Amino acid sequence: MIRPLIAGNWKLHNTTRQAEVLIMELRELVKGVDLPEIAIAPPFTAMHHLSHLVAGSPIKLCAQDVFWEKSGAFTGEISAEMLRDVGCEYVIVGHSERRATFHETDEVVNKKLLAALREGLKPIFCIGETLEEREMEETLSVVKRQLNEGLKGVLDGQMKDVVIAYEPIWAIGTGRAATPEQAEDVHNAVRNYLYDIFGLEPARGTRILYGGSVKPENIDSLMAQPNIDGALVGGASLKAPDFARIIRFQHT
Ligand code: PGA
Repeated sequence: MIRPLIAGNWKLHNTTRQAEVLIMELRELVKGVDLPEIAIAPPFTAMHHLSHLVAGSPIKLCAQDVFWEKSGAFTGEISAEMLRDVGCEYVIVGHSERRATFHETDEVVNKKLLAALREGLKPIFCIGETLEEREMEETLSVVKRQLNEGLKGVLDGQMKDVVIAYEPIWAIGTGRAATPEQAEDVHNAVRNYLYDIFGLEPARGTRILYGGSVKPENIDSLMAQPNIDGALVGGASLKAPDFARIIRFQHT
């Protein structure tokens, strides 16, 4: 059985002090949880401080982005090695906000994903279609293209460290999540596609998270789907009781 992963993406929220308050509240609420893995993606500035506060708890640290070069004249960028240095284990790559607002192409996402793997970080690789693409019935061709381009050069043996997050763009931050059936259809197609590229083991073992307006009210029905192995949570990860309820989803 795949161990689920529930990851919280804080985006551009929380100073160090606010991050400390939120993480301590969350630590208290998830005491004793051992089924899902838990990851939090704070802003870079809070990462080092939080690494001390999550030590000994089930909470892992995740970065929201990474640059692909190791070092050099790249003002403003952060390398995978620097993230490892502050206790980070996961990194989000290809989030739709980075693709849309910061013009990240599939090629850029691929470079980031490969750099993360090279340095021993586990990428949470985001894919997903716009509303327009869904309405044009292009969802599966869009996610296949993103998978194909984003996973270029990844070896079969490296897939154990890769997490995929299906996040339909129309569901992110809108309060309008995909239905469990809509999400399951895409997750199932993603798993079949992983089988075509990498074979049985990676297809079976890769965690495919759903993201987009995940809340305490919809997590149980999403997690009941056979191909949904966890969630990438934005807004609801900023409130400890809501995020803790998502982590404590009811298994069926
Ligand atoms: P949301 O964000 O849960 O606020 O919709 C999800 C995400 O951007 O990963």
